[in-house]
Amino acid sequence: MAEVRLKDVTKIYENGFKAVKNAVMEIHDREFMVLVGPSGCGKSTTLRMVAGLEDVSSGRIFIGDRDVTNLAPKDRDIAMVFQNYALYPHMTCFDNMAFALKIRRMARSEIESKVLESARILGIEALLDRKPRQLSGGQRQRVAVGRAIVRNPKVFLFDEPLSNLDAKLRVQMRAEISRLHNRLESTMIYVTHDQTEAMTMGDRIVVMLDGDIQQIDTPLRLYHHPVNRFVAGFIGSPPMNFVRGRLIKADGAYLIRGEGVEIPLNEAPKALLSQLDQELEVGFRPESAALDPQSGELAARVDVVEPMGAETYIHLKVAGASVTVRVPGDAQVRYDDRVYLRPQPDRLHFFDLETGMAIV
Ligand SMILES: Nc1ncnc2c1ncn2[C@@H]1O[C@H](COP(=O)(O)OP(=O)(O)O)[C@@H](O)[C@H]1O
Ligand SMILES: [Mg+2]
Repeated sequence: MAEVRLKDVTKIYENGFKAVKNAVMEIHDREFMVLVGPSGCGKSTTLRMVAGLEDVSSGRIFIGDRDVTNLAPKDRDIAMVFQNYALYPHMTCFDNMAFALKIRRMARSEIESKVLESARILGIEALLDRKPRQLSGGQRQRVAVGRAIVRNPKVFLFDEPLSNLDAKLRVQMRAEISRLHNRLESTMIYVTHDQTEAMTMGDRIVVMLDGDIQQIDTPLRLYHHPVNRFVAGFIGSPPMNFVRGRLIKADGAYLIRGEGVEIPLNEAPKALLSQLDQELEVGFRPESAALDPQSGELAARVDVVEPMGAETYIHLKVAGASVTVRVPGDAQVRYDDRVYLRPQPDRLHFFDLETGMAIV
């Protein structure tokens, strides 16, 4: 069993900067957990504390039943894969992968069989005699992953391992790492700033901002039930749209009214009722609003049209706000067209203007 637990883990760097604040998380045995958030939010710091490469300022870290808070990295039974691969340039791929095993004085034949098996899993058997500089970025990344696999660690830690690869290779490697996780059935913690990577790879996702955990949930829970405006806007691409308006009651019916905004609600969610006449932030996803050339609740002007093939993203100006909708790829919409938007009332998200917390 290799669950990983962080109990009130805080990191204050020597200059006094608080990079991680009271982090609490439980990563289950064999789970693929992704830490995601904008650059500088404390993802690498968190991962490096789990690895033992960074001391914790307070709190405890457990791997399985062991409190590893004060253990050296080599005693934690983890393997880490870095963005820059960190391969030894003067060694062949074979020796790079064998290095940690040699240090442990494993028998030569055993080392050989472990390296070959990992190379087979990753499809890099033919590269084992080469030096890192004779490899492409994707091949180097596979060697770096292979070096982690041979050690058969309890926990794999990945810090933005795909960020140096071109877009196409990134998508391919993403699938390979997911496949690897299914095959090895080990616990993996994966750091990325890319919400698409997080959504596609994670069993669950930890969303971080400014050293604080915002929400820990499955990809679809995050997408459909974000706890605050930050998570709502960070998860999803194109991102959620936000407009401002007041919840009002007119002729017995509820609606949201703001500048250039008038959205009737079939029924107001219970939690909203206490917000009557308050100004709110209203969110809706690009796929949750219909585009209508004739009439609708939000008057809009087409700003940019982005055909993706199967669908098209239309960026619009609504009053002061920018709003994006996804429409079928054959939709006939042109720059500067006047159109109307009709958000689906049961797909709206409401956020407190001051705290940003979701009103549910
Ligand atoms: N050694 C350090 N000393 C002081 N501040 C640091 C140090 N390392 C990182 N930081 C700061 O801590 C914050 C979190 O860094 P990091 O965990 O690397 O973020 P992320 O991986 O999410 O981009 C950043 O603001 C960064 O500048
Ligand atoms: Mg980082």
